[in-house]
Amino acid sequence: MTEPSQELDRLPADFVWGVATASYQIEGAVAEDGRSPSIWDTFSHTPGMVEGGDTGDTACDHYHRWPEDIGLMERLGVDAYRFSIAWPRVVPGADGAVNAAGLDFYDRLTDALLAAGITPFPTLYHWDLPQVLQDRGGWPERETAERFAAYAGVVAERLGDRVQDWCTLNEPLCSAWIGHLEGRMAPGLTDLTAAVRASYHLHLGHGLAVQAIRAAAPDARVGIVNNLSPCEPATARPEDQAAAVRADGHNNRWWLDPIHGRGYPQDMLEVYGLDLPERPGDLATIAAPLDWLGLNYYFRTVVAADPAGPAPYVRQVDPPGARHTGMDWEIHPDGLETLLLRLTEEYGARRILVTENGAAYPDVVRADGTVDDPERTRFLEEHLAACARAVRKGAPVAGYFAWSLLDNFEWAYGYDKRFGLVHVDYPTQRRTIKGSGHRYTDLIRAHRARARRAA
Ligand code: FCB
Repeated sequence: MTEPSQELDRLPADFVWGVATASYQIEGAVAEDGRSPSIWDTFSHTPGMVEGGDTGDTACDHYHRWPEDIGLMERLGVDAYRFSIAWPRVVPGADGAVNAAGLDFYDRLTDALLAAGITPFPTLYHWDLPQVLQDRGGWPERETAERFAAYAGVVAERLGDRVQDWCTLNEPLCSAWIGHLEGRMAPGLTDLTAAVRASYHLHLGHGLAVQAIRAAAPDARVGIVNNLSPCEPATARPEDQAAAVRADGHNNRWWLDPIHGRGYPQDMLEVYGLDLPERPGDLATIAAPLDWLGLNYYFRTVVAADPAGPAPYVRQVDPPGARHTGMDWEIHPDGLETLLLRLTEEYGARRILVTENGAAYPDVVRADGTVDDPERTRFLEEHLAACARAVRKGAPVAGYFAWSLLDNFEWAYGYDKRFGLVHVDYPTQRRTIKGSGHRYTDLIRAHRARARRAA
C-alpha cells in the first residue's frame, strides 16, 4: 500500500469513518410489510421523469440483503453507517397510525449494526414523503411539518435507547428547490410559491422534529444535513458578481441562516418576492440548537447572470480547465475546505460531519472479478486532504461518510450513475468491492494506526 498523504495526519484521532446510503435508493421492497407509496414511487413511475424509466422497485434489494450489506461494511472497516428511514414504512397512512413491521426493520438493522461494531447514523427524511401526505398538499403545507415531527418522535422512541446521532433532514434544498421549483425531482413541481413554502415547512418540520427527538431520547445528538456549494462569479462583471451573491443566498444562506437564528436572508426574500407562511414562535423553533452540522459536498457553483431564468436568475458556467466526474460535476476539492471553514468562522460550528461526498463513474467488473476505479480513489483522497487542511485551520471536522456504500438508484439519473465503493450488478444483485473501497479501508487502517502511535 502506498502511504496516504501526510495531510491526513491532521484528522482527529477519533475521526468517524463512514459510508452513507438512503432508503429509496437501496431498499426496494416497495410494497412489503405495509409500506405505502412515497412521492418517489409516483415520480419514478411517471413516464419521462427518470432516465431509462428506472424505478426504486427493487433497487439494491437491501430490504432483504441487509445482513450481507452490513458484512460489506465490516469488510470495509468503517466506524459508522448513515442510512435513512423510510417514513412510508413507519407511518404509511394519512391517519398517523404506526406500522410495527416497518419499524421492526430498522430495529433489526440497528441491532445488527451495533453487533458489528458499526455506529448507526439514521436520517429521518431523505426525500421519500408518503404519497398520502403529498395528496394533502405535501411540504408546501404546515401539516406536513407537524406530521414529520410526530413520525420522528415515533422512531426516536423506538431506537433512541441505541441510536445517539440523529439527522432530521437530508438536503432540504433538493426537496424544495429541485422538487418544487426545477421539477427535476419528486414531486416534480415548477412553482416558486410552492417551493418557498416547502422550504419553510421543511425547516419548521426540522425544528419540531428536534424537539420530538429530544423528548423521546434526551441523550440524542441531533443534526441536519445540508448540501452546500461555494458560489463564484464567472467573470468580474458586476452583474455576474451580483449573480454569485444570489446563488449563494439560494444555495447556502437560505439553508444556514434560519437554523442559526438569523432568520431568512432579506435579499433573497426580495429576489423571490414572496411572504413566508410564518407564525409567531416559528423562527425560534427552526433555530433549535443542534449538536452537529452535516455537510454534503459535491461541486462548486460558478455562475453568470441570467435575467430570463427562474429565481435566482443565474446560469451555471463550466469554468475553463475544469475536471469532471461522470455526473459532469466539477471536481473541486478546495470547495470542501472553503465550506468547512465558512461553517466554522461564519456560523460558529462546533462539530461538523461530512455526511456525503463521492463521485460517479461508469465502473465495470473486469474478467478477473475486480473493479478498477482510480478516478474515484483520487476523488476521495483529494477531498479527505481538503478536510485535513480545514482541520489544520481550525474547522471541527469530526467525520466523513463516503457516498455511497453501494451503487444505487441515483434519482432522476436512474441506475446509470454509479457512486458506490461497492459495485452492484443489478440483474444478479452481486456486490463487488471496488478498488476505491479497498483504498478507503487502507486509509482507515493507516489513520487508526497513526492515532494509536500518537496516543
Ligand atoms: C445527494 C443526495 C444523495 C445522492 C448524492 C449523489 O444530493 O443526498 O442521495 O444522490 O447526491
